[in-house]
Amino acid sequence: MDTNKNILQDTFGRNHTYLRISLTELCNLRCTYCMPAEGIQLSPKSHIMSYDEVYEIAKTFVDNGVTKIRLTGGEPLVRRDIDVILKKLASLPVELSMTSNAVIIDRFIEILKSCNIKNINVSLDSLNAEKFKTITRRNDFDKVYGNIMLLIKEGFNVKLNAVLIKGFNDNEIIDFIGLTKELPISVRFIEFMPFDGNKWDKAKMVSYAKIMEIVHSNFNEKQVIRIQDAPNDTSKNYTIKDYKGSFAIISSVTNPFCDSCNRIRLTANGRLKNCLFSSSESDLLTPLREGKSIEPLIQKAIQTKFKVRGGMDTLEKLEKPDLHNQNRSMITIGG
Ligand code: GTP
Ligand code: 5AD
Ligand code: SF4
Repeated sequence: MDTNKNILQDTFGRNHTYLRISLTELCNLRCTYCMPAEGIQLSPKSHIMSYDEVYEIAKTFVDNGVTKIRLTGGEPLVRRDIDVILKKLASLPVELSMTSNAVIIDRFIEILKSCNIKNINVSLDSLNAEKFKTITRRNDFDKVYGNIMLLIKEGFNVKLNAVLIKGFNDNEIIDFIGLTKELPISVRFIEFMPFDGNKWDKAKMVSYAKIMEIVHSNFNEKQVIRIQDAPNDTSKNYTIKDYKGSFAIISSVTNPFCDSCNRIRLTANGRLKNCLFSSSESDLLTPLREGKSIEPLIQKAIQTKFKVRGGMDTLEKLEKPDLHNQNRSMITIGG
C-alpha cells in the first residue's frame, strides 16, 4: 500500500473528511426503528473507548485531513464523561457537531457553546405526544419539544430528523413543514432504512417521490422552491416561499447519494465502519491499546469501501434480510 498518499481517499476518489463518532451504545429512548424490542447485546465496558482513546483516534483522523466530526450514540449526552470528551475534541481544528434526541440537552447548553458546537441535529419523529411515546417507548415529548425551542432560542443551527413510517407519521409531513414557517430550522424527512433487528419492510418506507407528492398536493408549484444543497449533503433541500426555515429529504433507499459520500464512522467500541451499510468493520481500538499505528488500518478500511451502500447497490439487494441483517443495529452505529 502506498503510504505517502492521502489515507482518507478511496478507490473512487472520495475524500473522507467527515468522521462520525458514536460515543455510546446506550440511549435514554427506545425507538422501535432503531433497536430491537428485546434490546441489544452491549459491549463489555472495557471494550468501549475511553475519552483519551476517543481523542487519540479523532486526532489521527484530523491530522490526516478530517475537517468535521459529528458525535452520535445511542445518545451521546448520556455518557458520564461527555464534558471531558467535548472539551478535548474542541481543542482540535475541526467543526464539531452532534446528533441528539435532546431529552437532556438543556443541561449542556453552556458547555456546547463553550466548545463552539453550533450545529445540532435532533431526532423527532412525531409532533404528537402519544405517537412520540409509541415510537420511542418513553413519555418525553414535552421535554424534547421544549429543548428544541431552547436550542433555537440559544442560537444553535437546528435540524430535525424525522424517520417516516407509512401509516404512522406520514400524515404529519405538512405539520412538520408548518414548523418551518416561523422557525429557522431544517426539517429532514428520512426514508426508513433496514438494519439488524428493526423489522424493516419496504412497505413501511415513505419514499422521496411520495413525500414530494404530498408536498405538492398541499402547496402550489411556485411555493415549493428547491434550494442549493451543501457539498456532500445527505439531503435534497427545499423551502416554502416566505418561510423562515427549510425542509429536506434523505433518500438513502430510493435515491442514494453515495457518489458524494465523505463519511466514515467510528463505533463506541472502536471499530471503523467505512459505510453506514457495511457489514465489515476494522478494529482500531485493540491495535491502539497495543501501541501500534492505526493509520495503515484506516487506509485499508477506506480502500475497501464499496461504491454504493456497502455493496447493496440495488434496492433488491438492500431488501434482502440476509444482506442487511449482517450489519449492526442502528443504535450501535449512530446514524
Ligand atoms: P449534517 O452534518 O447536518 O449534514 O448531518 P448528517 O445528515 O450527516 O447527520 P445526521 O446524524 O443528522 O443523520 C441524519 C440521517 O441521515 C440519519 O438517518 C442518518 O442515518 C442518515 N445519514 C447520515 N449520514 C449518512 C450516510 O453517510 N449515508 C446514508 N445512507 N445515510 C446517512
Ligand atoms: N432509518 C433511517 N434513519 C434512522 N435513524 C435511526 N434509525 C434509522 C433507520 N432505521 C436516524 C435517527 C437519527 C439519525 C442519527 O439516524 O432518527 O436522527
Ligand atoms: Fe456513504 Fe455508505 Fe451512506 Fe452511501 S450508504 S452515502 S457509501 S455511508
